[in-house]
Amino acid sequence: MAERAGLDGPATGTADVWWARRRDAHARHAVLLDEVEQRRWAAYRRDEDRERFLAGCALAKTVLAGYTGRPPASIRFDRTCARCGQPHGKPALEGSDFEHSVAHSGDLIAVAVARAPVGVDVEQLEGCSRPLGGPGGPEALARLVFSAAEQTALAAVGPADRARQFLVTWTRKEAVTKATGDGMRVAFSDVVVTAGAEPPRLVSWPCPQAPQSVSLLDLDAGAGYVAALAVIGPCRAVRARNGSALLAAAALA
Ligand SMILES: CC(C)(COP(=O)(O)OP(=O)(O)OC[C@H]1O[C@@H](n2cnc3c(N)ncnc32)[C@H](O)[C@@H]1OP(=O)(O)O)[C@@H](O)C(=O)NCCC(=O)NCCS
Repeated sequence: MAERAGLDGPATGTADVWWARRRDAHARHAVLLDEVEQRRWAAYRRDEDRERFLAGCALAKTVLAGYTGRPPASIRFDRTCARCGQPHGKPALEGSDFEHSVAHSGDLIAVAVARAPVGVDVEQLEGCSRPLGGPGGPEALARLVFSAAEQTALAAVGPADRARQFLVTWTRKEAVTKATGDGMRVAFSDVVVTAGAEPPRLVSWPCPQAPQSVSLLDLDAGAGYVAALAVIGPCRAVRARNGSALLAAAALA
């Protein structure tokens, strides 16, 4: 694929979030995958998982190529897991000021980029084949992954809005743990965020830095989805950008 025209990257203290759909994945994007990624792509059994993986990976690489002026095919991620050394950890682009995070759920793909550790999470609220939390509902799930205060806040919400409120809290927590690179290695009940209708804020977490040093924002992911962004450092502005257009151009390049 040819080198893409430059893209203006996020300034210090801001973030970009690129949005795309899983159907934006095109077979031509597969040339951007390295050997490890090719193997993972081929191993997915369901088409929708293959599409989500390809679209997320290709979008992240196309965006970072545009920001850094490098050819997209030269963008390779270090995915070394901090726990076991296998290539399934948080992807990082070496030799770059930019950090990024990828999330996919349902038909949506999000790639967040900042000049500080960043995490994004998106979750499908409507149109899922199974109800959230199974027969026990969101409350049952909350008992496993929410702090006592978060469970109390969820119980105070009317049943019709409980799944949304669960996912608002969940995406805030997961965005934080994706920013640190821990993911679900940390106990989510120890990463305490403001719940539900309150403005997003990290209340406490099992890390040495003060929770106030983390910027936490809810994102507008469109109807039927809930999403959040965390940046370890200041984040005074977030630009929502069109990843579908970028993937379409990348497939033609
Ligand atoms: C990160 C994690 C929370 C994401 O879970 P998810 O909700 O299923 O998936 P999402 O769509 O939100 O995010 C997936 C993306 O997160 C990124 N990612 C993977 N591991 C990550 C980590 N430790 N921190 C941050 N981001 C991570 C990847 O880019 C991945 O997308 P890709 O596989 O297509 O490249 C989950 O995969 C996790 O906890 N991983 C770590 C588990 C671990 O380390 N176990 C020990 C193994 S030895």
